[in-house]
Amino acid sequence: MQAALLETVDSPIVIQDIPTPRAGAGQVVVQLKAAALNHRDVWIQKGRYPGMKLPVVLGSDGAGVVVEVGEGVDAQWLGKAVIINAGHNWGADERFYGPDFKILGMPDNGTFAEFIGVEAQYLAAKPAHLSFEEAAAVPLAGLTGWRALTTRAALQPGERVLVTGTGGGVALFVLQFAVAMGAEVWITSGSDEKIAKAVALGAKGGVNYKNADWAKALIAATGGNRTGYFDVIIDSAGGAGFAKLIDVATAGGRICFFGGTTGNITDVVPNKVFFKQLNIFGSTMGSQKEFVEMVQFVETHQIKPVLDEIFPLSDAEAALRRMDTGAQFGKIVLKIST
Ligand SMILES: NC(=O)c1ccc[n+]([C@@H]2O[C@H](COP(=O)([O-])OP(=O)(O)OC[C@H]3O[C@@H](n4cnc5c(N)ncnc54)[C@H](OP(=O)(O)O)[C@@H]3O)[C@@H](O)[C@H]2O)c1
Repeated sequence: MQAALLETVDSPIVIQDIPTPRAGAGQVVVQLKAAALNHRDVWIQKGRYPGMKLPVVLGSDGAGVVVEVGEGVDAQWLGKAVIINAGHNWGADERFYGPDFKILGMPDNGTFAEFIGVEAQYLAAKPAHLSFEEAAAVPLAGLTGWRALTTRAALQPGERVLVTGTGGGVALFVLQFAVAMGAEVWITSGSDEKIAKAVALGAKGGVNYKNADWAKALIAATGGNRTGYFDVIIDSAGGAGFAKLIDVATAGGRICFFGGTTGNITDVVPNKVFFKQLNIFGSTMGSQKEFVEMVQFVETHQIKPVLDEIFPLSDAEAALRRMDTGAQFGKIVLKIST
């Protein structure tokens, strides 16, 4: 089968013929119709991800059709359109993943390929309202956004939410989920065009984080006061900008972050955090239980992921470069077969 392989750090991925997987006990083989990129794929390519193990077929997200079932797997999966939970072996503790947790696309081969072998327990039926390209966009980003917003930050209807860097794959799911839950959602972005697109998706407004005074401008736009405005803030940028999230959080607010795109958090003034009685949470991916809940929510609310650009599998390297520039609004997808 054809697969997009990363052979060494900092090199372009190459399309190669590798053996097609077979279904072992408890496993299925999925013929992939589409796959989606996550920033993780770029970090791995740059060698900036823990537990590097190469060569590997990149890709955590995929949607396709089950073409083979292994011993012990319900034969009813055969021919079914499915999506795959990218997070495996979470373990029994819902609070934290166990030592065997892993994500598709390193160490195991991922979804940038014509076929993938996975354990049947990680399949979910493809939501009927989604195309294969849309469905492929859901698993990793949807799950990460879901856990951060619900399990960790415990968003309630009517609360005021800030989502930073709206153009990102996870950030857009957070925006769509929060709007569907009845929250008042504001966003930041480095692009005014992306802010306008987010408003069209239901955000109340937003500011450009490239403006040095963005936090003040945001509070002014919301009509908040000097003690802040947001009950919940969901961030994946980290870096120096994180300190401003503390300024715009309301007293007793919750800040949840799951990424550090702009580097280490700096300049946080401790007394601002404790005088405001803020709650700061870290979050990563989500459990199988949360994956099932998230997919159900997507179906119930007929949520359609925002797709940025669709590339053929043969252009996987170009797709990665697009993500690296940060030009995207939504998920970058690879079309693998029709
Ligand atoms: N812990 C986990 O389980 C987990 C899971 C998924 C992702 N992540 C991490 O979360 C981050 C986002 O992932 P993704 O796949 O959604 O990536 P992505 O699609 O590449 O999005 C990255 C986004 O970061 C935003 N950004 C860049 N500079 C920023 C700044 N100074 N302030 C605020 N936002 C800024 C940009 O928003 P604009 O384009 O709007 O400017 C950009 O679109 C990555 O660091 C990734 O590794 C972690």
